[in-house]
Amino acid sequence: MNMNSGKTAIVTGASSGIGRASAEALVRAGFTVFGTSRRKANGPDGVTMLICDVTDGEAVAALVSTVLAQTGRIDLLVNNAGVGLLGGAEESSVAQVQALFDVNLFGVIRMTNAVLPSMRRRGEGRIINIGSVLGLVPAPYSAYYSAVKHALEGYSESLDHEVRAFNIRVSVIEPAFVRTVFDQNGIAPDSLLREYDRARAGLEALLRDVMPVADRPEVVAQVVVKAATDANPRRRYTAGKAARQVSLLRRFAPAGIFDKSLRKQFRLPV
Ligand SMILES: NC(=O)c1ccc[n+]([C@@H]2O[C@H](COP(=O)([O-])OP(=O)(O)OC[C@H]3O[C@@H](n4cnc5c(N)ncnc54)[C@H](OP(=O)(O)O)[C@@H]3O)[C@@H](O)[C@H]2O)c1
Repeated sequence: MNMNSGKTAIVTGASSGIGRASAEALVRAGFTVFGTSRRKANGPDGVTMLICDVTDGEAVAALVSTVLAQTGRIDLLVNNAGVGLLGGAEESSVAQVQALFDVNLFGVIRMTNAVLPSMRRRGEGRIINIGSVLGLVPAPYSAYYSAVKHALEGYSESLDHEVRAFNIRVSVIEPAFVRTVFDQNGIAPDSLLREYDRARAGLEALLRDVMPVADRPEVVAQVVVKAATDANPRRRYTAGKAARQVSLLRRFAPAGIFDKSLRKQFRLPV
């Protein structure tokens, strides 16, 4: 008998990319999987898709009640739903930044607070938050995305300390670039300034170089399954070779050398 059979997982944003691949991999690993999308969507085989916008507290509460009514338990929550916002920090209104945080951080908090009571009652559970290497390394032209992924790192680590007493663990998965439609789904800056055209061109050149060789979502999905099933889950998992390299360089390379190499990658004057 599969050791995960009978276990229930919720994966937010399972209609595409990393969430879809993770939902599929969790089904293969034996979980009963509920995936979400903001609209009626077809998920991978074996995944029950439910509608939920993580910015809507009532929708989040209804989703969790539906899953609990059907299975009586939630063993795993994968907070994957997210959007991007690339542009100069000066090029977005505060309203746009709030919209980004509403999905990528407050959405995670809404979902987490909704599942924690039932996990605490059962005395077990796992929460996996999809972060990013930009939660480790703030990069130019992604000030707010870097900020929200750094916030997610801090939130996740604090929470992990708090809920470990109830046999609940919280992990963050840190991918680098992943080949999904994430860049097309992102929020476009609402106040473009031509002073940043050069930086924009640098970012576009970087994306042209890295996207064709970026990791496939299945690489991240494998790490999600590992974090979901490890006997002693870690607080952080990098996903893919590039993410491992960034994480190691950030920790061990001298700050000046790291700074120069990052600026060079983004075609900024060093
Ligand atoms: N792609 C990358 O390079 C990369 C790298 C590192 C980390 N990540 C992170 O990985 C996660 C998934 O990204 P992806 O690359 O797989 O992007 P994606 O293909 O665009 O998928 C995003 C998913 O999030 C859902 N979503 C967006 N806004 C939502 C909301 N308000 N409520 C509920 N669901 C919402 C979308 O569902 P619907 O549109 O169907 O509602 C979709 O299923 C994100 O957290 C992202 O920050 C991505």
